[in-house]
Amino acid sequence: MEDRYLTFALGKGRLAKHTMDLFEKIGISCQEMKDKTTRKLLFVNEEQKLRFFLAKGPDVPTYVEYGAADIGIVGRDTILEEARNIYEVLDLGFGKCRMCICGPQSAEAYLHHHELIRVATKYPRIAKDYFYNKKHQTVEIIKLNGSIELAPIVGLSEVICDIVETGYTLKENGLVVLEEVCPLSARMVVNQVSMKMEHERISKLINDLQAALQEEEP
Ligand code: PRP
Repeated sequence: MEDRYLTFALGKGRLAKHTMDLFEKIGISCQEMKDKTTRKLLFVNEEQKLRFFLAKGPDVPTYVEYGAADIGIVGRDTILEEARNIYEVLDLGFGKCRMCICGPQSAEAYLHHHELIRVATKYPRIAKDYFYNKKHQTVEIIKLNGSIELAPIVGLSEVICDIVETGYTLKENGLVVLEEVCPLSARMVVNQVSMKMEHERISKLINDLQAALQEEEP
């Protein structure tokens, strides 16, 4: 029997649901978490010495860096944006989408002629890295907190840097993907000290998850 709890921070929402479904396949479950009416924040599996908590996505890398959670499950977008000192150890394959530069078709020319344009985004670090380090284009980054597609429609910015999953939000608002920044999906991240101290348990977890993911592949 293990004597130390291994703590997981899960990004709230669809990601957490997917994660627990995947964990069940490798024999990890948390009965307490299945109660949809609970207001509890921390869930414990005493038998397996595991603890789980749900956090806002952007806070997951923070909990993991400080060691409040040994392991985190979070989107690659958040990992890139938060740039915390954590290990990214596994691509979980779900939550697949793309970080893209989008706008009206007419904005495409701005991206070819290195014009000084405004880029609205929830991801200023990713946008800055893309425009400054990859495209060598000087832009003004405007940080927003959601409904990013609004920005070019109402004239706040020429383009946006945002997540595209199905593409419906863009389509319904007359916008298109102009350039792709990078592919995204859910990732498992690990605290750097935990990786050493709990190496055996964490390695087994990674191996089991990898095997379960391979089985899922068609
Ligand atoms: C995300 C993203 C897009 C949308 C893309 O927003 O920012 O707006 O989903 O999905 P689609 O390509 O399937 O239409 P989210 O719903 O997370 O909310 P937000 O606008 O508050 O960021």
